[in-house]
Amino acid sequence: MNLVADMGATTDEEAWKGVRAKYVAQEPLLNLNNAAVSPPPIAVEQAMIDAYRFISRNPDFNMWSKLDTALPAIKRNLAELIDCKPEEIALNRNSSEGLSTAIFGIALTQGDEVLISPWDYPSVRAGWFQRQQREGIKVVNCAFDLMDSDDDVVDAYVEAMTPHTRVLQLTHMYHWNGRVLPVKRLCAIARERNIITIIDGAQTFAQMPVSFRELDCDFFVTSLHKWLGAPVGNGMLVVNQRQIDRTFPLLAPFDQPPVDIDKFDHWNLGTYNSAIQTGIVPAIQLHTEIGTRRMHARLRDLTRYWIGLARDIKGFRLHTNIDSDSLGAISLFSIDNRDMQQLERDLRERHQVHVKYRKIAQFEGLRVSPHIYTLKNDLDTFVTGLCAVLE
Ligand SMILES: Cc1ncc(COP(=O)(O)O)c(C=O)c1O
Repeated sequence: MNLVADMGATTDEEAWKGVRAKYVAQEPLLNLNNAAVSPPPIAVEQAMIDAYRFISRNPDFNMWSKLDTALPAIKRNLAELIDCKPEEIALNRNSSEGLSTAIFGIALTQGDEVLISPWDYPSVRAGWFQRQQREGIKVVNCAFDLMDSDDDVVDAYVEAMTPHTRVLQLTHMYHWNGRVLPVKRLCAIARERNIITIIDGAQTFAQMPVSFRELDCDFFVTSLHKWLGAPVGNGMLVVNQRQIDRTFPLLAPFDQPPVDIDKFDHWNLGTYNSAIQTGIVPAIQLHTEIGTRRMHARLRDLTRYWIGLARDIKGFRLHTNIDSDSLGAISLFSIDNRDMQQLERDLRERHQVHVKYRKIAQFEGLRVSPHIYTLKNDLDTFVTGLCAVLE
């Protein structure tokens, strides 16, 4: 089936049913927590199972002399999707690993400053604070609100920069509420000041169009098991060629001297499971058949759809700007004077709907994140369940 030809409009539910049929069914729960990890398309799951069986029959030879010969092609495919050179891509397990590679791999000395925000991923913040404690670098928290305008956010970062700022740590889309940062503008400002940039793109790659070249950052990190739908345990680290030589790998690599991008690949970091990577190419195939722009439009449409159904519920409060063009699959809501953790449990136990409780600073609520296999009648089910538990 040619999915693109079948999908005249992003609102065509019939065409999206065709996409749904290509995904592993979600049961017993209606899965609205795809921002954590997504189910794979059936073809992806099958490719991985076949590869796993193949490995079992002759592990060493079948992994490293057979399956791994596909790795350059996998990198070429990914490079095309994210608009970088294959020589800038390292494959690893997840965003956390890629982020730690950058955080612990950049050479810094006492007094150097790293600019982060209170909203960055908790392990990112913890990594930088560890370096502060151990090496005497200075971590500076940039103060702004998740709901501030792009201009205000840019001003806050610029204000927090000093002549000692060496690294700017940015989150492309916050997992808390789906807010997207103006990372391209921020990277341009950082470049002018010789500041190294790390973008945590765990939530944006394959959810919305991302061009590494256009962002012109130093490190872009993502997980392939979120929006791309590759098997769980696949991540990608993109390192700008200007940074590869001067960045240390997380673990000492097998080959010496540790030069090109391979030093960040997980096959240089001990034994790993090659079968997991076998699912990347079929995942890219389905993704490109649909197209990133169309996916992003659909995800935005789904978010606006369920919010349209729910917004008149008494006490309904939204913590995501749904008018933004960068809106995608992730949004956060709360109901005034209700225990949101209890609401999460009630939805799961009484209506088999899985959404995610999130709390940071003044933001406390349930995060809703559909995927492209989600249909509008799933969202009807969710909002009907929500109304019922609130009665
Ligand atoms: C913004 C952000 N960064 C990093 C991560 C970590 O991703 P992983 O658990 O795949 O390493 C996540 C996961 O949800 C995330 O949302």
